[in-house]
Amino acid sequence: MKTTVKQGTLTGTPTEVLVIPGYEDETNIGKATQPLDRNLGGQLTEMRKNGEFQGKPNQTVLIHTRGAIPAKRILLVGLGKRDDLTLDRVRQAMGTVAKRVSQAETRTCATTLLGLDRSGLWPDDLAQAMVDGMILGDYRFTPYRTDSANRKEPLSSMTILVDKPSLLNTVKRGIERGEATGEATCFARDLCNHPANVMTPSRVVEEAKKISKEKKVRLTVLNPAKMKQLGMGGVLGVGQASQHPPQFIILEYQGGKKGEKPIVFVGKTVTFDSGGISLKPSENMDHMKADMTGGAEVLATVRAAARLRLPLNVIGLLPVAENMPGGRATKPGDILTMLSGKTVEVQNTDAEGRLILADGLAYAGRLKPACVIDIATLTGACIVALGQFAIGMLGTDDSLKEQLKQAGECSGERVWEMPLWDEYFEQLKSDVADMRNIGGRGGGMITAALFLKQFVGKFPWVHLDIASTDWSASDRPCISKGPTAIGTRLLIQYLLNRVAKPQK
Ligand code: BES
Ligand code: MN
Ligand code: ZN
Repeated sequence: MKTTVKQGTLTGTPTEVLVIPGYEDETNIGKATQPLDRNLGGQLTEMRKNGEFQGKPNQTVLIHTRGAIPAKRILLVGLGKRDDLTLDRVRQAMGTVAKRVSQAETRTCATTLLGLDRSGLWPDDLAQAMVDGMILGDYRFTPYRTDSANRKEPLSSMTILVDKPSLLNTVKRGIERGEATGEATCFARDLCNHPANVMTPSRVVEEAKKISKEKKVRLTVLNPAKMKQLGMGGVLGVGQASQHPPQFIILEYQGGKKGEKPIVFVGKTVTFDSGGISLKPSENMDHMKADMTGGAEVLATVRAAARLRLPLNVIGLLPVAENMPGGRATKPGDILTMLSGKTVEVQNTDAEGRLILADGLAYAGRLKPACVIDIATLTGACIVALGQFAIGMLGTDDSLKEQLKQAGECSGERVWEMPLWDEYFEQLKSDVADMRNIGGRGGGMITAALFLKQFVGKFPWVHLDIASTDWSASDRPCISKGPTAIGTRLLIQYLLNRVAKPQK
């Protein structure tokens, strides 16, 4: 979908669908909409007065204009109460609009900058949220559909109308960012939606190769032989029973100064998690094709950083493996020697994410990072603790945690902190190795993170557990049923916030 910004009026703009927002607690239609209402013979005022359109969050009403104005239809969309308006409300309203426009068999729309009349929200951020919401709301995964009914065309264009030329450039900047974050999320969703028989470790490498075609991006891939040489016992141990050999991807974007310390992301990339010898129950095991969400999000983030030409050095690390049972599989009781030199007794082969991440984090330490953020569908305990609306966050650096909290608020992909106290290490003690890979019954999200901490060097580090938000059981305005890729926009927003905001 292509979005453009134009100076223009509601009454003078030809389009298939003209999108008009309304607040819940205000029954008059607002000054900006008055000329439009006059042309429509007072229809909008009437619909507000009689309660046909109440402005509740994500409520929509479609009206045909029948020649009264150049726009063919008007789509009223509710923003909820004015004082409650947030960027995420705007994003969701536009996600709803995308679905409604597409339902009407139309492909284009025009609208104003939603929420501009609400103080504290900036025009560039609003434009970003709007574009982001439209792209996310329009997302569908159809490559395997051969029935034509499921091959709906995507939306083609949106015009954002502004009344002052001074807004044009600001809005343009927001559009560019929204396109980057929206597209990145769709890209990550695609990777996770593809089944594990297609999205194998070598296919993930192919995807990384495509990204390395972007300017200032460089790709290095470590194959199993190279990993053996380095001593990456974690990745090799997890991947050793699969017919698809494990890989280790290093994707670097150098947008900052040479020698400037990189921001390093490490993404758990298990292309399928069967549990291994500690086999998972079969119910919902298909969801484990998305156990590579962390890695997909890291790829998407590096790609977005490159496309936005951010003045930062960013490195994405992906330990990639398929966790399978088999004659050569790692068995409960086996001891692995990790890249850091520490030894781990594998008591449960289903706790594989921490094993591959341990090597990723140890590798990150060699890159002299400014900070390291790992992101992973790590624990079922995260789902138990947080449900489906919060990402679990644990880490060693208060300022980095604070920055991620802020990025979470802006992006609508919010994090919630859990304790990372060393007392919990009691649960990770092994009789035969430096540690074991499971922590017993209580605090599963915490012991998993504490396990990772054993491989973290002297750099600011935060771990994000996205097992909670990873998969949606239902369609929501900006989220389709299945893999959500939640976390992608959080990471990109974190990078955007690190780049000083231009003057408004
Ligand atoms: N990939 C799973 C975690 C997961 C579960 C993500 C459900 C998304 C939805 C992870 O590898 C896993 O199996 N974790 C185990 C660890 C346990 C054996 C200590 C878990 O949480 O059950
Ligand atoms: Mn597992
Ligand atoms: Zn897993």
